[in-house]
Amino acid sequence: MNRFSDLLAYAETVKSRPILRLFENDKRPAEFSASCGEILFDFSKTNIDAEALRRLVALAESAGVAAKREAMFGGAKINETEGRAVLHTAWRNPGETVVVDGEDVMPALRATLARMRVFAEAVRAGRYTGQGGAITDVVNIGIGGSDLGPAMATLAMAPYHDGPRCHFVSNVDGAHIHDTLKGLNPQTTLVIVASKTFTTIETMTNAETARAWMAREVADPAAQFAAISSAVDKTAAFGIDASRVFGFEDWVGGRYSVWSPIGLSLMLAIGAERFDAFHAGAAAMDAHFRETPFAENLPVLLALVGIWHNQILGHATRAVLPYDQRLARLPAYLQQLEMESNGKRVSMDGTELGYNSGPVVWGEPGTNGQHAFYQLIHQGTRVIPCEFLVAARGHEGDLAHQHLLLVANCLAQSEALLRGRSLEEATEILRKKGLTGPELERQARHRVFPGNRPSTTLLYPMLTPETLGAIIALYEHRVFVEGVILGINSFDQWGVELGKELALALAPVLEGTAQGEGKDGSTRALAARIRMLRGI
Ligand code: F6P
Repeated sequence: MNRFSDLLAYAETVKSRPILRLFENDKRPAEFSASCGEILFDFSKTNIDAEALRRLVALAESAGVAAKREAMFGGAKINETEGRAVLHTAWRNPGETVVVDGEDVMPALRATLARMRVFAEAVRAGRYTGQGGAITDVVNIGIGGSDLGPAMATLAMAPYHDGPRCHFVSNVDGAHIHDTLKGLNPQTTLVIVASKTFTTIETMTNAETARAWMAREVADPAAQFAAISSAVDKTAAFGIDASRVFGFEDWVGGRYSVWSPIGLSLMLAIGAERFDAFHAGAAAMDAHFRETPFAENLPVLLALVGIWHNQILGHATRAVLPYDQRLARLPAYLQQLEMESNGKRVSMDGTELGYNSGPVVWGEPGTNGQHAFYQLIHQGTRVIPCEFLVAARGHEGDLAHQHLLLVANCLAQSEALLRGRSLEEATEILRKKGLTGPELERQARHRVFPGNRPSTTLLYPMLTPETLGAIIALYEHRVFVEGVILGINSFDQWGVELGKELALALAPVLEGTAQGEGKDGSTRALAARIRMLRGI
C-alpha cells in the first residue's frame, strides 16, 4: 500500500482503453481542459477520465497541497532540509506583505527592485556607460538557475528587445566564454556576474576570465561589472561597487530566481515596464493557483497529469515540445526546474520513496523535433507523454502563413499520437500505390502507428511578457504540487554536491600535483591518459 494504491488499482482497469474512445463524450474537450485568463490547458488527449480525475484531485487534497501552498506563500520554512522559506513568489507580488522570522521582507525587496530599475534604465538610456561609450552588449555569467531563467526568458522575449544585446555564459569550458567575448568590444560591454553564493566555481572562473579580457582595454574593468548576489563581502572583494550589486535572500532558490535580480539581463533587454508585465503575468498565475478549485486549477492539473503518467502509468520521461522557436531554451529550463526539484529519493522525513521520483524532462522546439526524435515517440516501444505548447498568433504579422503551418504541425502531432494508423489503413494506402502480396504485408507493418499515446496542449494567444511570466509560474507551481504529492522537498539540491567536491579533488590529479589515491581504477586510468595527452 502506498499513497498511489487507489489510483494504481483504477489505472489497471482502464489502461488498455483507447483514449480515442473517450471522445465519444463530445463534451470531453471542454471537461478535460481548463484556463487561466487566456491560457488554455487541454489534457483531453490523455487516458484520464472523470473517475481518474476525481481520484487524482482527492490525492492532491489528501496530500495537503492547499495547506502547503498557503504555507509557502506565507513565508513558512517549507524547505525543511535547509531551514528556509520559499518565497520566489514575493518578487512578482511586490505589493504584498510577507513576514519571515518576524520581519516584513518586502520593503528591502522593493528597494532592490527599484535600484534594478534605475540601473537598467541608466544603461538603456546611455547614462551609465562603459569606457568606450554607451553599453552595447551585456554578458551574464552564471550557471544553473543563474543562467537558465534569464537566458530562456531573454530569448523568448526577442520581439521586445530594445536594449543592449544580451549574451549568456555558463559553462566552465573556456570555449563558451571565448566564443562569446570574441565579437564584443570590452569598452562597451557590461558583465553581470550572477551567482547567489558568489562561490560557484564555473561562474567565478568565467568572471575572472572576463575581467582579464576587459582589463586589456579598459582602465577600470570592475567599473563595467555588476553582480547579482547577496554575498556582498565577496562581491566587494571582486572589486564591484556596492551600487551595482543586487542581492536576494536565501528564500529564493536558484531555479526559481528569474523574478529576482537574476532577471536583470532580461530587464536590460526589454526594459523595466515589460519586466513588470512579466511579473504581472506570473502574479496572475499565483492568484489563479491560490484561488481556483483543484479540478480547474492549471498548476494542480498539470501536476496531476504528470503524476498519472509517471507514478501511475510508469512513463518515466516527459517530452516538452514548444511549437515556439523562441521557447527553444524552455525544455532545458524545465529540466532544471523539474529534475533538480523533484529528483529526490527520500521523502521529507528521510525515508526512501516507495515509488518513482519526478520524471526525466527533455525536449526541443517543434517542428525541428519532428525531423529528429518524433520517430521514437510515434513508433518506439516506450510511451512518452508529450506536452505541446503553442501560440495562436506569432509576432511576425507578415509571416502569418508560416505561423499557421507551425500550429497545424503542432495539432497534427497530437492528433497522430492519439489516433495512430492501423494495419488496415496502412495496407490500404500501400495497396493504392500498387503493392501486393507478402511485400504489401511486410511494408504495411512498418507503417503502422499504434496511436493511443497521450499528450497535452498549452495554448496561448501570443508569447508576450505577461504570458511568459504566467507560463513559468505555472510550471513552478506544477513542480511544487508534484513535490507535495510525492512527499519530498522540492527546494533543496543535495544531489549536485558530490560531483562538485570530487571535481575539486580531481583538478590536482589532472595537473599531476596529486596522486589519485582512493580513486577507482577507471578514474585513475582516465586521469593518467589525460595527463599523457596533455604532455604532463
Ligand atoms: O549546483 C546547483 C546550483 O546550486 C543550482 O541550484 C543553482 O541554480 C546553481 O548551482 C548556481 O548557483 P549560484 O547562483 O550560487 O552560482
